[in-house]
Amino acid sequence: MADITFTSPAMAKDITVYATAGARQTLLGLAKANRIPIQFECENGECGSCAVQVTILERKEPLGQHLTEKEKIVLLLSGKISKGQIEDTELRDIPPPWRLACQYIVRDEDILVKL
Ligand code: FES
Repeated sequence: MADITFTSPAMAKDITVYATAGARQTLLGLAKANRIPIQFECENGECGSCAVQVTILERKEPLGQHLTEKEKIVLLLSGKISKGQIEDTELRDIPPPWRLACQYIVRDEDILVKL
């Protein structure tokens, strides 16, 4: 079970929802299911409209990070992450500062999501 906290200047207050362990769900799917006002268009990792800043709040063990090829391209082209940050993610499990909510699979770790 993980606490996923959404924050945005457009929201009256932060909202924390609970992701069930084992449920393979995207961050976008979780946001939509909980009526979080997240932007999205394609839902397929191509438009970049669902880009969010993700901060891991607690970590029991280092978890491997995985960005899809689409996510890498969109975040690189939009200037949200660098090639060095992709390398840090892939080789050193250092989380990138931005993710695509439609590509990010929620895991058993508490995160803060800035819309
Ligand atoms: Fe288009 Fe996520 S909704 S990249």
